[in-house]
Amino acid sequence: MCGIVGAVAPRNVVPILLEGLQRLEYRGYDSAGLVVVNNSRLERVRSIGRVAELTARSAKTSGHLGIAHTRWATHGAPSERNAHPHISSDLIAVAHNGIIENYEELRAQLTAQGYVFTSDTDTEVIAHLIHSHYARGNSLLAATQAALAELVGAYAIGVVAADNPDQLIGARKGSPLLLGVGGGEHFIASDVSALLQVTKNMVYLEEGDVVEASLHGYRIFDAKGQAAQRPVHVSELTNDSVELGEYRHYMQKEIHEQPQALADTLEAVCNSQSLVPGIFGAAAAAAFAQVDSILILACGTSHHAGLVARYWLEEIAGIPCNVEIASEYRYRVSVANPKTLVVTISQSGETADTMAALSHAKEIGHEHTLSICNVPESALVRLSKLRMLTRAGPEIGVASTKAFTTQLAALFLLTIVLAKQRGRLSKEAEQQHLHDLRHLPSAAQAVLKLEPEIAKLAEHFADKQHALFLGRGLHYPIALEGALKLKEISYIHAEAYPAGELKHGPLALVDSDMPVIAIAPNDALLEKLKSNLQEVRARGGELYVFADAGTRFHSSDGVHLMQMPEHAGYLSPILHTIPLQLLAYYVALQKGTDVDKPRNLAKSVTVE
Ligand code: F6R
Repeated sequence: MCGIVGAVAPRNVVPILLEGLQRLEYRGYDSAGLVVVNNSRLERVRSIGRVAELTARSAKTSGHLGIAHTRWATHGAPSERNAHPHISSDLIAVAHNGIIENYEELRAQLTAQGYVFTSDTDTEVIAHLIHSHYARGNSLLAATQAALAELVGAYAIGVVAADNPDQLIGARKGSPLLLGVGGGEHFIASDVSALLQVTKNMVYLEEGDVVEASLHGYRIFDAKGQAAQRPVHVSELTNDSVELGEYRHYMQKEIHEQPQALADTLEAVCNSQSLVPGIFGAAAAAAFAQVDSILILACGTSHHAGLVARYWLEEIAGIPCNVEIASEYRYRVSVANPKTLVVTISQSGETADTMAALSHAKEIGHEHTLSICNVPESALVRLSKLRMLTRAGPEIGVASTKAFTTQLAALFLLTIVLAKQRGRLSKEAEQQHLHDLRHLPSAAQAVLKLEPEIAKLAEHFADKQHALFLGRGLHYPIALEGALKLKEISYIHAEAYPAGELKHGPLALVDSDMPVIAIAPNDALLEKLKSNLQEVRARGGELYVFADAGTRFHSSDGVHLMQMPEHAGYLSPILHTIPLQLLAYYVALQKGTDVDKPRNLAKSVTVE
C-alpha cells in the first residue's frame, strides 16, 4: 500500500522522512521517493526497490521542508519515472495515494495548456493542476484547494512548492492522512506509525480537509473551505506497535481502510487505458488463451468472493465457472480438465485446506493455476504459476473485511481480462468498466458515511438470537458474507438464502423475533426481491433493507431502510458488503464480544 510522509521543521527533515517511510514498509511497496526544498529549489531523489536504497541515494540531500512516498505499482515494472513525488515546472511537488478518476480528461486539458508529462501516473495531473493555479498568483493553499475542486476520486496528498520553504500542504478525501504536531515543527503522514518517531500528538484529518502547516502553526479547512477545528489526540502507541489510530478495533480500522485498499489494488486500472493479462503474471496471456473454464477453490470469506466472481465470469466473460469449498474439493473424486484455470483465493496464502486443494488439483492434471492473495511470497502464491496480489495491507482482525473487497476487485479485473481475450468486450464496454473501477474507492468512501446510522440500527439486534440474510443473483454471496460476519463476531446465529428460496422452507422460521436483512440493489432482480420481502412482511418478519439509489423502498412499520448512496452495477456487491461489515461490527459491540479475536477462531487456519 502506498504511504505518504511530510515534514516542515527547523532541522534537516530527510532523516525524518526516511524513518517515516521505513515505518510504512510493512504495507508493501516497490519504489520510493522524496523531495525537499533547498535554496528555493526542489531536490528529488527516487529509487525502485527498498527504502534502504533511497536512503543511500539521499546521503547528500537536506532541507527543512519535504515530502516522501512509497509506491506499490501493479502494472508493468515499477519504475523511477513513475515513483512519487511528481513535479510540475520545477516548482510544485506532490505525493499522492488514491485514484483520480478523471485524470485522462485533466491530462488532455493540461497537455493542451502546454504541460509535458514525464510519468504514466495520475498523480502528475495533480502537480500540474496545482501549478496552473499557483502560476496565476494564488497562494499554495488556494491553488491546492482550486485543484482539488477539479479532481474526481479518492486521494490523500502532500504538496510543497520550491519558493515556499515554510509551507507544507496536506489534503484527504477517501484516503487517510493525519497531521503530527511537534514543538515548532509539523508533519503529515498516511499512517500514525510513520510519525511516532517525532511526536505523539496527532490530528486525524476528516473527509475533504485541507491542512496548511508551517514551523509556527497549522490551519485546517473543511470540504467547504471553512476554517475547522479538529481535536489533537495523544497517541498511546509505541514506535513498535501496529497502530489502531483513531479506531476502537482493528476490524473497524480495516473496514475504513477499504477505499485505500481498493485504490491500491486497482492501481493498474488507474494508470492505463486498457487491461492486459500481464497483471496476472508474465505467462498469463499464453495461459488464458488456452483455458476454456474456471475452477475457483477457497474457504470462508474467500469462497464467497469466488461465488460472486462466478456471476461475473459467466455473464461478462462467457466462460463456464465452478466454485468449490477447498476442504470439500480436496477429498472429492473429480474429473480434471487440463484446459481449466484453477483459481485459488486466500487472504493469508497459508490456509491449509486451500493449499491442499491446489496441490490436489495439480496432482489430478490441472496445469493452469492462479492465486489471488494478500500476502506476497506466501506458500500459496509460490504454489501457483500465475498470481495477482491484493493490496489490502496487513489484516489483523480475525473477521476478513478489506481482504474480501479487494479480492472482489481483483476477480473483476480477471473477468475483464478474460472477457477481452475471448472477444466478449467492446472497447466502449471496457472503458465503462475501467471508469467504474476508478470510481470504486470514492463510492466505498461514500458508503462508509452510513456508519452512524448503522450503529443505531445495530441496537435492534442486541437481544436477537437469530437472523436471516437474503439476496438474489450477484448479491446472494453477499448475503452469505453478511451472515458469516454477523455470526463470527456477534455469535448470533445467522443464515443466508437466495431470496427466491424462502418459500421452499426458511419462511417457516420467520416471525417478529427474526430480523431479516435484505440486500436490495437496483438491479434486474429488484422486483422479484420485493415480492419475496412481501412474503416476509406478511408473516410479521422485521425487515432491514439495504437499498441503493432508485429502488423506491420506504421505511415503514416493520421495515427499516438503510439507503445506500448509488447503484454500482456489476461492482455493487463490493459496496453492499461494507454496511453488512459495519452492522456485524456494531452488533458485536452491543454484545460486548471480543471483536478482533472472536472465540474459537484463528486468523490463519494452517491446520486441516
Ligand atoms: C471470515 C474469515 C475466514 C477466512 C477463511 C479463509 O471472516 O476470515 O472465513 O476467509 O479462513 O482464509 P484465507 O482467505 O486466509 O485463506
